[in-house]
Amino acid sequence: MPEFDLVIRGGTAATAVDVFRTDIGVRDGRVVALADGLSSGRHEIDARDLLVLPGGVDAHCHLDQPTGDESVMADDFESGTRSAACGGTTTLMPFAAQMKGQSLREAVADYHRRAEGKAVLDYAFHLIVSDPTPQVLGQELPALIRDGYTSFKIYMTYDALKLNDRQILDVLALARRERALVMIHAENADCIGWLTEKLERSGDIAPRFHATARPQVAEREATHRAIALAELVDTPILIVHVSGREAIEQIRWARSRGLRVYAETCPQYLFLTADDLAAPGFHGAKCVCSPPPRDRASQAAVWDGLRDGLFQVFSSDHAPFRYDDPKGKKVPKAAASFACIPNGIPGLETRLPLLFSAGVNDGRIDLCQFVALAATNAAKMYGLYPRKGSIAIGADADLAIWDPNREITIANDLLHHNVDYTPYEGARVRGWPVTTLSRGEVVWADGAFSAAPGRGRFLRCDHPQSVRGPGERQA
Ligand code: URP
Ligand code: ZN
Ligand code: ZN
Repeated sequence: MPEFDLVIRGGTAATAVDVFRTDIGVRDGRVVALADGLSSGRHEIDARDLLVLPGGVDAHCHLDQPTGDESVMADDFESGTRSAACGGTTTLMPFAAQMKGQSLREAVADYHRRAEGKAVLDYAFHLIVSDPTPQVLGQELPALIRDGYTSFKIYMTYDALKLNDRQILDVLALARRERALVMIHAENADCIGWLTEKLERSGDIAPRFHATARPQVAEREATHRAIALAELVDTPILIVHVSGREAIEQIRWARSRGLRVYAETCPQYLFLTADDLAAPGFHGAKCVCSPPPRDRASQAAVWDGLRDGLFQVFSSDHAPFRYDDPKGKKVPKAAASFACIPNGIPGLETRLPLLFSAGVNDGRIDLCQFVALAATNAAKMYGLYPRKGSIAIGADADLAIWDPNREITIANDLLHHNVDYTPYEGARVRGWPVTTLSRGEVVWADGAFSAAPGRGRFLRCDHPQSVRGPGERQA
């Protein structure tokens, strides 16, 4: 009788702190042994010349999220988790979004119905708080935090979602009391609204003006304000999808004052610029997301931040809208203004290969930094560690086996999402996950996906743990 259900033999494993040669023994979906020369398993995977990494934790993505208008997200929990698995990710954290006037509990119940029977990977929920009424702050949120929803996103932009400063303070104070983490979308709504009207009046309605309407100063101001509000309340925050050099300067300033300001960035801020929104015809709409991609100087600043620990988390912010679709980027009203193009781009499956190739293989970050950014830090910050985000005895056997030299030219035809384009079409990468395991089960191997919808489990999150980057003091 074999001792293990599965042995991954001869690979080079990496965590956020170590790289080491080991066999990995898996039983009942968990890692139970790390050693050379393990005895046999019922199944064996030969990982010689390959890397064995923790499966990615994509801690910012949008799946089957109601939009409140005529646009519809292209990926549900089935296609989204499938695509993520094929790109080496094993845990997803999408958002249960409260509409103004809606109970947060109801939004969470609705989101569970959307996930059940569909997810192929394990998932946890962040909340989006758009209506912090006394009922929400006094009862619903504290109860939800106790039930395992310990992080919530708030918006400083988008009319349907944005909070004013007073409301932000209320949410931050609640997070401090209940030990939850607030994620902030930092862009100044009034600057954007004012610029948008001005552009529209001049007839500047093409997709590329999306970037003009959302300049760095609008992100920089809101980032600074978010930092100031969090300082006032004395609670940590995480600024999501940081795009620009100027916002990064604000976060550096906050850190230098010892403030607990964490930050996330995304592939679009490394691999796209505002010029991509100026593609011929309406094609620039494929890269419309908020904040918008910036310029080369900002790309370099984002790389610096990934290297030196400014950023803790690297997420896709997958917000999937089809291009050639009246429910996607071509919603009828989008012809009248860039401001009506659904915001967001796909990226679940390309997130890790892009970072691995340009980061690890091109020498910008090392393998341990890659693991920290791709998995470990998010698992810690959102209360899923050590079950997720590392390779350790007792952890779920959520693993991605990488061929660090596999060369791929990214093409939408290779991807497994339900979007009809990728913004990275034609990009050449080196390094791709050849096998993905979720709780010890192979879900992606040798170019084939094999997992039953509904096998993914909901994860309750614990309170956030703090993380630090190289050279930083522990917060
Ligand atoms: O454009 C984006 N990022 N869409 C998704 C929603 C959000 O704000 O993250
Ligand atoms: Zn956002
Ligand atoms: Zn998002």
